[in-house]
Amino acid sequence: MAAQGAELTTASGQRLIDAISSWWVTLHGHGEASIAAAIARQAASLEQVIFADFSHAPAEALASRLSARSGLDRLFFSDNGSTAVEVALKVAWQWWRNQGSERRQLVAFAGAYHGDTFGAMAVGERSLFSDPFESLLFDVARAPWPASYWHDETVEEREQLALVELERLLETPTAAVILEPLVQGASGMRMVREGFLQQVEQRVRQAGALLIADEVLTGFGRSGRLFASRRAAIRPDLIALSKGLTGGFLPMGVTLASEAVFQGFVGTDPSRTLFHGHSFTANPLGCAAALASLDLLEQFPERYRGMEARHRPLLERLAGHRRLVQPRLLGGIAAFDLVVERPGYLNPLGKQLQALVRRQGVYLRPLGQVVYLLPPLGISDNQLEQCYRAIETALDQL
Ligand SMILES: Cc1ncc(COP(=O)(O)O)c(C=O)c1O
Repeated sequence: MAAQGAELTTASGQRLIDAISSWWVTLHGHGEASIAAAIARQAASLEQVIFADFSHAPAEALASRLSARSGLDRLFFSDNGSTAVEVALKVAWQWWRNQGSERRQLVAFAGAYHGDTFGAMAVGERSLFSDPFESLLFDVARAPWPASYWHDETVEEREQLALVELERLLETPTAAVILEPLVQGASGMRMVREGFLQQVEQRVRQAGALLIADEVLTGFGRSGRLFASRRAAIRPDLIALSKGLTGGFLPMGVTLASEAVFQGFVGTDPSRTLFHGHSFTANPLGCAAALASLDLLEQFPERYRGMEARHRPLLERLAGHRRLVQPRLLGGIAAFDLVVERPGYLNPLGKQLQALVRRQGVYLRPLGQVVYLLPPLGISDNQLEQCYRAIETALDQL
């Protein structure tokens, strides 16, 4: 197996366009030379060091650049998206406790996915994935997520109902509200409108709860802006990042926090400490990759800002196909649903489409009946067109 740019080459020699960025991590392209070189340079001087008692330049540079970009001054390193979420939840929970407050409720949204560790599973929608562990998961209050799509005529009504329900839930003292800003990924690229998130933030502020944005998928340009929370004009207290953080080269997670949240942990009493750490915390290779990836994002912002305009005419052309409904688009993420009788993760039609496009040199991985494209930023116009053409042909064959 090998990979270069937007293309995978399988062990048997088949070339496939990686239209889903290898589970949404490959940001610029596979084998991106400047990131590979940065990792090699870093490996020759400091590959790893315990991050208690020591610090190092790549971690400090990354922390200050992410803070400047996100507006959140403090940062905690971990290993992946699930741990970035776990840290956000633990910080939010302990922050209230450190203030002697008894806020015990967490609020999440229907359809959420935040990862596969226990805390992340608990705030995620309960599903086939979490069923075996149900009795071990803590209670979470859940508000509706008014997912929308092109020409959606009922969205305003559903947004209002969702806000009313959120207000009702927030009558109970709430520690934090967690959401995937603008698009819920794993439950089927379910997009909401920016105005809805602004209304959510207003309710969260009125209730005095903390707002956690899980930008593990949406961070680093996927929404068309560097962070989806920026695009939606909301200001979370905590942001979880991973996936595209290192350009998709190495596993790493980061949880950003506001100064006010950080101050809740400062003091001489050891019980105020967040006792959380991982062996590979702030791994220098991951930091070097993340810095090189940020360089690219800063040098070529038009690449992520321009993805939505590149998808739009292609999705518009496809959207008239009789086998699909609910086309939707946000930044570099284009999606639609196949027309099926029984929607759900186990619906087989997506798998059939996957096999048909694969024969045409395109790699997709539908979520049940939901088909989406989320390619690396470096995909060429020809390659992107090839993806849409392959889907159109497959839809005709289904
Ligand atoms: C929004 C979101 N949060 C968290 C995660 C978990 O990340 P990881 O798979 O790196 O643990 C994912 C993974 O898909 C995700 O999409």
